[in-house]
Amino acid sequence: TLLIIDFGSQVTQLIARRLRELNVYCEIRPYQAVTMDMVRQLAPRAVIFSGGPDSVTREGSPRAPQEIFDYGVPILGICYGQQVMMTQLGGRVVSGEGTAEFGRAYVQPKTPLPLLDGWFEDGREQVWMSHGDHVAEIAPGFEVYGTSPGAPFAITADVSRHFYAVQFHPEVHHTPKGAKLYENFVRLAGFKGDWTMGAYREEAVARIREQVGDAKVICALSGGVDSSVAAALIHEAVGDQLTCVFVDHGLLRLNEADEVVAMFRDHMNLHVIHAQEQELFLGALEGVSDPETKRKTIGRLFIDVFQKYADQIDGARFLAQGTLYPDVIESVSFSGGPSVTIKSHHNVGGLPEKMGLKLVEPLRELFKDEVRALGRELGLPAHFIGRHPFPGPGLAIRCPGEITRDKLEILRKADAIYIDQIRKHGLYDEIWQAFAAILPMRTVGVMGDGRTYDYALALRAVTSVDGMTADYYPFSHDFLGETATRIINEVKGVNRVFYDCTSKPPGTIELE
Ligand code: XMP
Repeated sequence: TLLIIDFGSQVTQLIARRLRELNVYCEIRPYQAVTMDMVRQLAPRAVIFSGGPDSVTREGSPRAPQEIFDYGVPILGICYGQQVMMTQLGGRVVSGEGTAEFGRAYVQPKTPLPLLDGWFEDGREQVWMSHGDHVAEIAPGFEVYGTSPGAPFAITADVSRHFYAVQFHPEVHHTPKGAKLYENFVRLAGFKGDWTMGAYREEAVARIREQVGDAKVICALSGGVDSSVAAALIHEAVGDQLTCVFVDHGLLRLNEADEVVAMFRDHMNLHVIHAQEQELFLGALEGVSDPETKRKTIGRLFIDVFQKYADQIDGARFLAQGTLYPDVIESVSFSGGPSVTIKSHHNVGGLPEKMGLKLVEPLRELFKDEVRALGRELGLPAHFIGRHPFPGPGLAIRCPGEITRDKLEILRKADAIYIDQIRKHGLYDEIWQAFAAILPMRTVGVMGDGRTYDYALALRAVTSVDGMTADYYPFSHDFLGETATRIINEVKGVNRVFYDCTSKPPGTIELE
């Protein structure tokens, strides 16, 4: 393992990404949580200090445990991490006017250093700087290996102890040789780069077996990638001790429930309960048009239903969840702070305590694309793994205003045609998420020689990295025209189609 101590940089997760790309396993821990007991338990082979927003010159600013410098493993300090190293090892950092440097800078070599193998082939190297303070005096034992106009100590090292300190951010894109620097660092630390998905699968299976023993596990299968991969992995570990509950709330897409259940039952051999609760959900949603009421109604019923089925499984002691790494990192920079609820998200958060269940979360160490790789490794079909996200409340939030069975029927057909069009034009993988929504209004049209008074649809497609921000997808007019025509011709009850050109912000991805 490689330990990354997070001092609150906005880009700490990128360090982890760079290391995973080198097939090195790493864990991020906030500096407050790093004690020598914790370090000894994790037994890292190397440590990286991240950047951070504070100033080491401020009293009480974050530090690493002093004894970590005697622990005997290589340490790489980045930006604030560099300054922490210098301060704790006897150097001096100053802040003040004229020492700040933000953005592109160029480092010149001074003396060759194995950490910099592959650097300076064309003289200088571009790096990305973002610092207010700078090192005025390096710590005893350190020497300078690279300088920039604003940072005379841009790259320093104590080679005998394998301590390296850089002022810039090698993890960001704008430091083109940054990945090479990480590669050199992990090689110097003795990592073989043999952490693969195959290896992860084996380790994870062993860990699940140890945690679960011969107890039973239940899992709420949503058909999404995360819960599916978690279920497949747990099934590999404990076989029929796992029972999945697939709650069909009547708000799924065309044929979705049957496809998901068939795939898990027939293709993957999992024990799946198909909870057919359409009437319960649609009944409770009758006459409801407020978005938050819809979401809360669905969330509450989901928990009730899941609990009802779970209660029928004798001796269930564990609840499986597809929690991912970005959800669990106690990131220093993002923790805390009051935030406004834009939408009540659908999850089973409070369930484990209520039911006295322990959690099994086998994807806690993985990023989304790693979960996809693991899914492929476990034999889930590629088309399934690459599916666009689908929200827990399903079509309910794509049907602004009151939900009726007619509207859901129209929506299912139109959505299927839209997605078919996107696949036919080879655009599915370029788009992060695409769907149709049915608008709460009717408009007048003319078809054949008759007047129509039918529903209008909105089509939505966005590009995004994490769903937090998004841009609308720039379809060609031909594509939009062809798709609108197909939908209106093939779906009875629709006579108008709009394309939603709103990005997020100010819009959200879903309409409610
Ligand atoms: P918004 O509409 O908030 O959506 O921009 C961002 C992403 O989250 C999905 N989404 C949900 N996913 N439960 C989920 O599992 C929910 O309640 C929920 N609401 C929105 C949405 O589809 C998009 O990918």
